[in-house]
Amino acid sequence: MTVFGTGYLGATHAACMAELGHEVLGVDVDHAKIAALQEGKVPFYEPGLPEILQRNLENGRLRFTTDYAEAAEFATVHFVGVGTPQRKGSYAADTTYVEAVVRDLAGLVSGEHLVIGKSTVPVGTAHRLQTLADGVVGERRGGIAEKREDNITVVWNPEFLREGHAVADTLRPDRIVLGVDDGSEDNAAVETVREIYASALEAETPLLVMDLPTAELVKVSANAFLATKISFINAVSEVCEAAGGDVTALADAIGLDERIGRKFLGAGLGFGGGCLPKDIRAFMARAGELGADQALTFLREVDAINMRRREKLVEIAKEALGGNVIGRNITVLGAAFKPNSDDVRDSPALNVAGSLNLAGAAVTVFDPEAMDNASKLFPTLTYAGTVEEALEGTELVIVATEWKQFQELDPEAARGPVAAPVVIDGRNCLDRGDWERAGWRYLALGRG
Ligand code: UGA
Repeated sequence: MTVFGTGYLGATHAACMAELGHEVLGVDVDHAKIAALQEGKVPFYEPGLPEILQRNLENGRLRFTTDYAEAAEFATVHFVGVGTPQRKGSYAADTTYVEAVVRDLAGLVSGEHLVIGKSTVPVGTAHRLQTLADGVVGERRGGIAEKREDNITVVWNPEFLREGHAVADTLRPDRIVLGVDDGSEDNAAVETVREIYASALEAETPLLVMDLPTAELVKVSANAFLATKISFINAVSEVCEAAGGDVTALADAIGLDERIGRKFLGAGLGFGGGCLPKDIRAFMARAGELGADQALTFLREVDAINMRRREKLVEIAKEALGGNVIGRNITVLGAAFKPNSDDVRDSPALNVAGSLNLAGAAVTVFDPEAMDNASKLFPTLTYAGTVEEALEGTELVIVATEWKQFQELDPEAARGPVAAPVVIDGRNCLDRGDWERAGWRYLALGRG
């Protein structure tokens, strides 16, 4: 099989498919990325992935190329995991990369090929790609539609992996969703997909076969629900701030109701990253195109609540420093959008660091993994080599990403290098009692 796109999704998928015993060719247009992967270097931080990549390069089951013709020749099953970023100046997703893969492949294949889409796409994309592939293949056949030896079938198999847990989520997913043209279990593609995921299916992972639009909608609905859950608790957080309540105690209490559940009720700086923010916007945009815009207007509020948390944290920081941050030393612990990742796309942590810097503060950032990516995006911030260096002489510490390293900081020891022991727990991840006992002024979101 081939895997088109070697970002977080594609590189993980390619390596994990090889780990399952398949012969895999990873394909990308980015020469530098392909060269790095071929040398066994993962161009991002993902625990466990380097080992799997290395192992499967060595045993020869995994290779990488930029040559689409080689890919069309190598396999008849092609996964597509290229990006669908937010379009500039719009909420909608940019599907040009998935279109390009299918168009190029359709121009090259001979025989029957199966394209298994994994990228998160607006509903209707798979159907459109099928039409596109039929058109290109048909043209090559000189318009003789009955001559069926060259053919592409497009199915959709959305991906639910989380960064930081990508390997486990790929090898042992909660569920496998497969959208096929006729929505039928008897569709020829179902058997192929069963073979590919045989080990997960043996471990009783459910395979849910459905029609193409439903499969596409499953993915965006899942992300929209997760985003809504986070923004729900962050909205309650605002009320807690106004009323003097404690959102973490509240989340623990409502989370014990198994219909609600405690997961994704982590109140704090809110969601960021390359998926949730863009996916809820693309979902709204697509619903609008389909004439169902009213259905998702609440997602605007989900988005707005989320962005307000960042502003609120900046406000708390200003208040903590007496109303003005100009020339003040502030330390932000965390740059990645979440722990166990070096991804800084739409990172709440960097957003806060950047805002305080623009407001005149001297901001020092430390993150265990995301320093390179952060410094490329925000070169004007100061980047410290260690937590201790980041704390030196600071007047305010903000914990903006809940890395274990920060949660395990000894508040006594952390007091040593700082100029003033004031901490804002932007992720509600520190033990308030411990920090207060060690003499820190402890501030947090949602804990009025
Ligand atoms: C998300 C989904 O969880 C995956 O299922 C999906 O496959 C993926 O998007 C995708 O579409 O590719 P990911 O972006 O890796 O995965 O991150 P999450 O673990 O969902 O976290 C998203 C953001 O929400 C982070 O910024 C995190 O800090 C924040 N969050 C999460 C909270 O603020 N509170 C919580 O309780 C949980």
